[in-house]
Amino acid sequence: MTTDTTGTAARDGEPRRGGPADSPFVRACRREPGPHTPVWFMRQAGRSLPEYREIRATVPMLESCRRPELVTEITLQPVRRHGVDAAILFSDIVVPVAAAGIDLDIVPGTGPVVAEPVRTAADVERISPIGRDDVSYVDEAVRQLVAELGDTPLIGFAGAPFTLASYLVEGGPSRTHAKTKALMYGDPELWHALCARLAEVTLSFLRVQIDAGVSAVQLFDSWAGALSEADYRRFVLPHSTYVLGGLADAGVPRIHFGVGTAELLGAMGEAGADVVGVDWRTPLDVATRRIGPDKAVQGNLDPTVLLAPWPVVEAEVRRIVEQGRAAPGHVFNLGHGVLPETDPDVLTRVVALVHELTARPAR
Ligand code: CP3
Repeated sequence: MTTDTTGTAARDGEPRRGGPADSPFVRACRREPGPHTPVWFMRQAGRSLPEYREIRATVPMLESCRRPELVTEITLQPVRRHGVDAAILFSDIVVPVAAAGIDLDIVPGTGPVVAEPVRTAADVERISPIGRDDVSYVDEAVRQLVAELGDTPLIGFAGAPFTLASYLVEGGPSRTHAKTKALMYGDPELWHALCARLAEVTLSFLRVQIDAGVSAVQLFDSWAGALSEADYRRFVLPHSTYVLGGLADAGVPRIHFGVGTAELLGAMGEAGADVVGVDWRTPLDVATRRIGPDKAVQGNLDPTVLLAPWPVVEAEVRRIVEQGRAAPGHVFNLGHGVLPETDPDVLTRVVALVHELTARPAR
C-alpha cells in the first residue's frame, strides 16, 4: 500500500514517481513515453466475468452501484484477473440522473428505463443539481478503490449530455433516437435547456469522482454518432465542451468517446479532450489525422473479434498496435464495450500480447 494514494501531489508539483499519475496509462494519455502501451477494456467489469455474475445474481444493477463494497469488489475483479493498466469505476451512466431526481430503473436485458420521459419544460425542471451528498456511495467507493489500487489508476466516468438526453427523452434505449432528434430539431430552446441541465449534473458527478481521487475521466457520448457533424456542432458540442472545459484545471486526463463517430472525431477532440476514443470503423492512423497531433487516441479492437479464433484476434491486435504508433499517445482498448459472451481468458491474452508487442527498454 502506498501512502500518497491520490497520485497527483508531490511537493515540487511533479507527479510522484511510481504513483498512478506516473502509470503507463496516464503517461499515454499525456502523450508521454512509457514502458508499454497501456490496455484496459470498456465494460471490463461486467457480464463476461463469472465472479461478477455471481455477485450480481441476487442484487439489482442500480442497487449494486449504490453499495460501495460491491462497487469496489466488481471494479477490482478485471484488474486482478487480466492485469489491465487501469480500473474503471463500476457504475452506470444513469446513476447521476437518478440522483438528480429522475425516476428510472435498469431493467435486465433492456437497459435504462425512465418512468416518465422528459419532453417538456416542466419535465426539464425535474432534473435537480447534484452534489457529493447525493452520490456519497460513489465518493466512498472511489476512496476505497484508490487506496486498494495503489499504483494502478482508476478511471471515473459519466454519460455526455446527448447520450443521457436520449435515454431521458425516449424513456429507454432507442435505435433511431427519433424522439430525441424530433425534440432537438423541433424545439431547440428546450433541447439546449435540457442539455445544459444534464451538463451541470455530469460536471458535478465527475468533480465528485476527481475530488475522491480518480486519475482520469471518460465522458461517454456513446450515441453521438447518430448525428451529422453540423448538428453535432450546433446541438451537442457546446454542452460537452461545458463539461470537459469545466475540468480543464482538474489535473486529470479527459477521454471523450463515442460509437460511429468517424465524422465527429475532430469535433469531439475540440470539446476539450486529452484523449479521443475511436471505434473499430476508423483505423487509428486515419483517426489521428482527423484528431490532430495534440491529442492521444484510445481504441479500437472490434469487440466481436474477441469471439473469433485466437490467430484472428492476434492479427487484429498487431494491426491496431502498429496503426496506433502513428498517434502521439495510444491507449489500447476495444472500439466499444466487452460483449457478455466473451471468453475472459482471451481478454487476459490480449493484455499480455499488447504489453509484449510494445515493451520499451527502461529509460
Ligand atoms: O456488463 C454489464 O452489463 C454490467 C452491468 C450493466 C452496466 N450497465 C454497467 C455499465 C448493466 C446491466 C447496464 C445497463 C445498461 N445501461 C445498458 C445495457 C443493457 C443491456 O443489458 O445490454 C446500457 C446500454 C446502459 C446505458 C449505458 N451505460 C451506456 C450507453 C454506457 C456507456 C458505455 C457504453 O456501453 O456505451 C454505460 C456505462 C456503463 N454501464 C459502465 C458500466 C460498468 C461504465 C463504462 C465501462 O465500464 O466501460
